[in-house]
Amino acid sequence: MSTWGVREDSAHSFIQIYDSFIHWYWYWLLVRRRRRKRKSNSEVMMWPFSRKGASGFSSSSTALDVTHGIDATGLTAIVTGASSGIGTETTRVLALRGAHVVMGVRNMTVGKEVKEAIIKEIPSAKVEAIELDLSSTDSVKKFASEFNATGLPLNILINNAGIMACPFSLSKDNTELQFATNHIGHFLLTNLLLDNMKKTARESKKEGRIVNVSSEAHRFAYPEGIRFDKINDQSSYNNWRAYGQSKLANILHANELTRHLKEDGVDITANSLHPGAIFTNLFRYNAAVNGIVNVFGRLVLKNVQQGAATTCYVALHPQVKGISGKYFSDSNEAKAAPLASDPDLAKRLWDFSTNLIK
Ligand SMILES: NC(=O)c1ccc[n+]([C@@H]2O[C@H](COP(=O)([O-])OP(=O)(O)OC[C@H]3O[C@@H](n4cnc5c(N)ncnc54)[C@H](OP(=O)(O)O)[C@@H]3O)[C@@H](O)[C@H]2O)c1
Repeated sequence: MSTWGVREDSAHSFIQIYDSFIHWYWYWLLVRRRRRKRKSNSEVMMWPFSRKGASGFSSSSTALDVTHGIDATGLTAIVTGASSGIGTETTRVLALRGAHVVMGVRNMTVGKEVKEAIIKEIPSAKVEAIELDLSSTDSVKKFASEFNATGLPLNILINNAGIMACPFSLSKDNTELQFATNHIGHFLLTNLLLDNMKKTARESKKEGRIVNVSSEAHRFAYPEGIRFDKINDQSSYNNWRAYGQSKLANILHANELTRHLKEDGVDITANSLHPGAIFTNLFRYNAAVNGIVNVFGRLVLKNVQQGAATTCYVALHPQVKGISGKYFSDSNEAKAAPLASDPDLAKRLWDFSTNLIK
């Protein structure tokens, strides 16, 4: 019992729920503040959450809208975390536009169900599922070698899978789970698929595209951004800041990758994006937030068709040709937090990540 006469475990749960709520509210305010700031640059006012930007698209545009008229036949794409939410819709729309899509999924039963549902809807769809657990470097290596062994080219890599604000735990390789899943797994995967992408870009003479699905949550990473010295420090772990840290890493990764790709002179771009706030399974670790969002969120959040729009826009749209190292939101270029544009931090993260996957 605590001094307040409340059982300590109940008090702890209450604090966690309260904490989750405050963080969600904070996150939502940030998103709204950004949208208000952008108001002066907007072209057309539609409804409160939907203003068209320079691209001609807005937060209410769907993945179908932003890929209308685009023929992706002959392109091969990998989408990680394709068994749910934004990843499933991204896979469906890329396949509908003619791309051959390989889904990286950790639950093969669900992956096969998603694949069958897409093929049922689009009989001509070329979709496959390969097992991928991003929190395990062994699994990432196995996925990459299985994919490369298919002999398929690779034009588009969509690093979409993610977990959010889970309690502290370590991955199979002993790295904090959100950093391991959201960043390190994708960092390794990208490295292992890059030769294939370079060869594809060279031979097909088509621009390759790497798309990192980040989040506005990168703005509430730990104050120093990436805690290189405390990545596994449980005592100061904060589940939301750790999520923000991993999402900041997604942006820094795309930026540093851009520098490397430019140095190599290869025709591959790397960008990052915020998909919007969408009610998906991502909220599974936060019962309170999940409940609130379930009740009220459906009225104000994007649906999953809108949630996959920015990913599909960055992956396929001709307007994005040649653009690399940028951050997108609502299918338009957007401004990320100052830390996300820090080249020294990006380089340090690159070296740190390279060491971790050795
Ligand atoms: N929803 C939002 O409001 C929002 C906002 C900003 C950013 N995002 C970002 O959008 C991305 C997609 O999220 P979502 O909203 O579509 O969530 P979701 O429905 O929970 O989908 C996440 C996907 O990632 C997969 N995944 C999780 N851990 C994995 C691992 N270790 N290995 C392989 N796959 C793994 C999940 O597989 P299982 O189904 O097997 O768990 C699922 O397919 C995430 O990167 C997230 O950070 C979402």
